[in-house]
Amino acid sequence: MEPGDAHRLGRRLADSRRTREPAARRRALRAIAADAERAAARVARRRAKVPALSYPDILPVTQRKDEILAAIRDHQVVIIAGETGSGKTTQLPKICLELGRGVRGMIGHTQPRRIAARTVADRIAEELGTPSPQAGGVVGYQTRFTDQVHDDTLVKLMTDGILLAEISTDRSLRRYDTLIIDEAHERSLNIDFILGYVRSLLPRRPDLKIIITSATIETARFSAHFGDAPVIEVSGRTYPVEVRYHPLVPGARDADPAASPPTEESGGGRGAGRARGGGSGRNGGSGGNGGPSGRRGQPAETERDQTQAISDAVDELCAEGPGDILVFLSGEREIRDTAEALAREQRPNTEIVPLYARLSAGEQHRVFQPHTGRRVVLATNVAETSLTVPGIRYVIDPGTARISRYSHRTKVQRLPIEPVSQASANQRKGRCGRTADGICIRLYSEEDFAGRPEFTDPEILRTNLASVILRMADLGLGDMATFGFLDPPDPRQISDGELLLTELGAFDAGGTDTGSTDTGSADTGATGSSRTASGRRITPIGRRLAQIPVDPRLARMVLAGDEQGCLREVLVIAAALAIQDPRDRPVEHQQAADERHARFADPTSDFLAYLNLWNYLRDARGELSANQFRRMCRTEFLNYLRIREWQDVHGQLAAVARGLGLNAEARSGD
Ligand SMILES: Nc1ncnc2c1ncn2[C@@H]1O[C@H](COP(=O)(O)OP(=O)(O)OP(=O)(O)O)[C@@H](O)[C@H]1O
Ligand SMILES: [Mg+2]
Repeated sequence: MEPGDAHRLGRRLADSRRTREPAARRRALRAIAADAERAAARVARRRAKVPALSYPDILPVTQRKDEILAAIRDHQVVIIAGETGSGKTTQLPKICLELGRGVRGMIGHTQPRRIAARTVADRIAEELGTPSPQAGGVVGYQTRFTDQVHDDTLVKLMTDGILLAEISTDRSLRRYDTLIIDEAHERSLNIDFILGYVRSLLPRRPDLKIIITSATIETARFSAHFGDAPVIEVSGRTYPVEVRYHPLVPGARDADPAASPPTEESGGGRGAGRARGGGSGRNGGSGGNGGPSGRRGQPAETERDQTQAISDAVDELCAEGPGDILVFLSGEREIRDTAEALAREQRPNTEIVPLYARLSAGEQHRVFQPHTGRRVVLATNVAETSLTVPGIRYVIDPGTARISRYSHRTKVQRLPIEPVSQASANQRKGRCGRTADGICIRLYSEEDFAGRPEFTDPEILRTNLASVILRMADLGLGDMATFGFLDPPDPRQISDGELLLTELGAFDAGGTDTGSTDTGSADTGATGSSRTASGRRITPIGRRLAQIPVDPRLARMVLAGDEQGCLREVLVIAAALAIQDPRDRPVEHQQAADERHARFADPTSDFLAYLNLWNYLRDARGELSANQFRRMCRTEFLNYLRIREWQDVHGQLAAVARGLGLNAEARSGD
């Protein structure tokens, strides 16, 4: 019988025992017996659906199958680590089926991104020889937009966000008898929430099995988190990947200090991430970003150079022979620019295909469709993990990504472009060499690679705690202070965060509020513990704030903008505050920069300067070519990259505002 059915029938049985009246009691027992039979029949039907299992011999996971099988059989939690392409994602669900799992409850299998959820489901269905998820086979998947799960689904792929959302309606996750948490080393907030929640669930669900997969890092920490769960490390990969290092030659570009992406807070390992409290000033006198510092791992600053390097690498790989090429870029705009540049070069029989999160499922799936000729896929991080795109034989990795960072000092969450960690670079490399030998060209040096942090800081250490607290409350995950985080946040910061959220109206005051409105962290220490355990509850405003992916204070501005009928203006200002100041103020040209910027100033408000600048840029873009616009930015001390980021964030905020039913068209009175 399924765990959910067993639980419900058990409760009804207990109720019936309390029924005094004999006839009523007999009726209740008869109904329970009938339901029990139906439930048992359902399990029998599901068991009959388990297909014959076979495993590709060449995969390293297959070679260790018996050991993995025994570990899962004998332990509630098992950690499996292995190189990219070793068979973790595709083979573990089959091993679970072989153990008889997936019948009483489903095997839930989480992926960080929806494109992986769907394609992995397709692949497992194919390997099992059952109909595709769309055709109702035993493998299904669910993402925010699609639900292909039904009565006979034995293996359910889903994004980790879906599993989190289910926790709020199914506290014990009774629809699953097994959970595979894939790519746990990514340490996104979603994954940390799941790992924390699941740990507390284990004693209540002794029948539930948890399998955690990870790259070959962090396994000891995962094991410790789950009471010394066994770790199985699978070594080796199926096809070799040759790595070539082609760094962008430093200095061989039109040096433009202003164009360098933010440098503060980047680099450094996990420890550094935690200790780092600083950041550069926003509008203050810190002046630009100090220009290229010669820091190791500094990403390519000007797209032209990087684009040229990518184009050269494409030529080099084309000369190697047939096969598709996957290029990693840091965002949609970079993808568009690179696509335009590559298209201008008109390589014969070559098709350029973009791949990023905001594309529809259909558009994303273009990369999986069969084709003739050569394909160059330009992708963001969505292609970094889990994916097997069969035609891909080559990877070009510029080595950078947008990484969300929160600065405690400036209290701003931003998305600077930074060098990726070794783990990320290896995941990228691992997208080739899956169905044949591969070549990965890194547009940085080997020393650069060696000097990078081993892995990216967990998202929880890079995120404003107020946002994290708000999301936990929205998901109903319980009290943060007692939640089983792998990296528990500092209790003082938790109470600061709760206080802030209360001031924003996201939480009600709770029972223990002292009435103080002091937000200074210095004196929340003494009362902090009572506040942390306080019974504050999320309000309707809090629910809406949780939907807006910026700092809760900026999100609150957006809601207020709607209430006051000036959302259009507030979206521009909130987006500006979410990024680093787009106005450059290089140390050696401060006065000139100030003079240039003076015309945007408004005597009544610094915020209106952003609005004036926004309108100015909009007009300029309408009148100038892309190159002229970029030149104008440079001469007027405006940072082109940050302006694009501003537009991106603005576009995102506007989309979310529309989704929340806010009205950006309403004009303020004047
Ligand atoms: N859609 C597919 N088409 C062809 N071969 C595939 C496909 N999916 C998987 N494979 C084969 O199975 C192998 C194992 O894939 P799997 O995704 O299970 O590896 P993994 O260990 O999870 O890798 P990663 O760490 O990259 O997620 C691939 O290297 C490839 O050879
Ligand atoms: Mg995988």
